[in-house]
Amino acid sequence: MDIIQAIETRRSIRSYTERPVEKTVLQKLIRLAVKAPTGSGMEPWGFVVLQDVEEINALSERIKQNVLEHLEDYPQFAQYESWLRSERYHIFNHAGTVVVIYGDTASPWHVYDCSLVAGNLMLAAAEEGIGCCWIGFAEALFNDAEFKAAHHVPDGFHLVSTLSMGYTKVPVPPCSRKEPVFFSWK
Ligand SMILES: Cc1cc2nc3c(=O)[nH]c(=O)nc-3n(C[C@H](O)[C@H](O)[C@H](O)COP(=O)(O)O)c2cc1C
Repeated sequence: MDIIQAIETRRSIRSYTERPVEKTVLQKLIRLAVKAPTGSGMEPWGFVVLQDVEEINALSERIKQNVLEHLEDYPQFAQYESWLRSERYHIFNHAGTVVVIYGDTASPWHVYDCSLVAGNLMLAAAEEGIGCCWIGFAEALFNDAEFKAAHHVPDGFHLVSTLSMGYTKVPVPPCSRKEPVFFSWK
């Protein structure tokens, strides 16, 4: 798959096969992802990889509960309240792999850099038939000191992106987008 095709066809995937993402494949994808540009060459990223299905399921429940209990702190999630209240809703859509990308706040560019890594990871994954979805809901838990300590995230690292990943079961047709707005083009 060439890069244009990957960009054209990438969609958020929320349905995965049972096949686990192999460690070697994930390592290859993350090594590709960190080829992203990086402000001042600081490479301010670190990863937590979750592949224990029971842990992922438990985290999904905790995140749902956490958001619902503190909805006032998450105005961006209010529109999804009915999803969060549904027993069937799984934050990670039953993905077998969740990759959490943390940025080192010592770099003023860490949010940009880690977002570029996430973008690369999603595009590189397409080549392997692996679908991804950025999970913003995860912000309700993965930045907590307790979670970070349990997963050995060093002080000073802040959550930037969470990607659920798995071999794509149900592909999604290419997206359409609004026409880009040009504020000026001289
Ligand atoms: C910052 C960010 C947060 C997102 N959070 C979620 C999420 O919590 N759950 C989810 O299912 N999709 C989430 N998405 C995926 C978006 O819903 C998706 O990218 C958007 O609908 C466009 O669809 P596409 O990615 O298939 O083109 C998120 C995407 C981004 C960039």
